[in-house]
Amino acid sequence: MRIDGKVVVITGASEGIGAACAAEFARSGARLSLTARSEEGLKRAAGSTGLVTAGDLTSEETRRLVVERTLDRFGAIDILINNAGVGFYLPSWSAPMEQARGLMELNFFALLGMTQLVVPHMRARGQGMIVNVSSIGGKMTLPWLTIYSASKYAVGSLTEGLRMELRRDNVKTMLVCPGYVKTGFQQHVTAGQAPESLVRSRRMAITAAECALAIRRGVERDARTIVTPKSGWILVALARLFPALMEARMAAMNETA
Ligand SMILES: NC(=O)c1ccc[n+]([C@@H]2O[C@H](COP(=O)([O-])OP(=O)(O)OC[C@H]3O[C@@H](n4cnc5c(N)ncnc54)[C@H](OP(=O)(O)O)[C@@H]3O)[C@@H](O)[C@H]2O)c1
Repeated sequence: MRIDGKVVVITGASEGIGAACAAEFARSGARLSLTARSEEGLKRAAGSTGLVTAGDLTSEETRRLVVERTLDRFGAIDILINNAGVGFYLPSWSAPMEQARGLMELNFFALLGMTQLVVPHMRARGQGMIVNVSSIGGKMTLPWLTIYSASKYAVGSLTEGLRMELRRDNVKTMLVCPGYVKTGFQQHVTAGQAPESLVRSRRMAITAAECALAIRRGVERDARTIVTPKSGWILVALARLFPALMEARMAAMNETA
């Protein structure tokens, strides 16, 4: 899809990958509608022309407001980038249920809620693209982030299902699976901390700007799935081909916690 002149809604755009997407898509001529909780962060990312709607996306009221305000201002939504997300480093067998539900509420249900509000509008126009930010953890389970991985697998399945449901409506979907990206994600986890082995691998991480560039290019070529950096595909393939070996390696990494 060509980005120039398109209306792009980005969730979780106050910092990190979402804010970098705002900068990247604005450079390509997109008109921005940004949402997250921090109004200050959103204003920084939106520049002088972008629309800002601050609020918690786990609330249906916020989601409705974002969509209504975008349609009022721009008259259309061409691309929805469902990016807001959070994690926690707690074993799945002992994580408080309330915390697990909270994670699912943002990573999965808020994303589904935004999608349900935007898709009817895209179907009516016979065009549009839903971009769902999952993770490499949505392609291979990361044992230090098991519940997070489960939420991202759900996002992957939803994205594929939507693509098939909406084929005749010319509404596309793209799944984004970043590896390690240098953002505040690690600091924003709601509990626990990353294993040492993971902290050490931070030097392999890409920047949010590199991730946003990959997303913009993916949208331009109507990609189905992007893994960024591309070397992540090797890990995904290894996990499919040699599951026992990879599980043993990942379990060992987790045990350095
Ligand atoms: N960083 C990585 O290594 C990595 C790797 C793979 C996938 N991802 C995924 O990439 C996406 C972006 O992550 P990031 O690395 O950019 O993390 P980040 O820097 O922590 O940014 C998260 C964004 O989500 C927003 N957010 C959090 N809770 C929210 C809520 N309840 N309502 C509305 N907005 C909320 C935050 O803004 P406010 O605090 O202002 O609300 C922020 O803008 C996430 O889905 C994450 O799972 C990240």
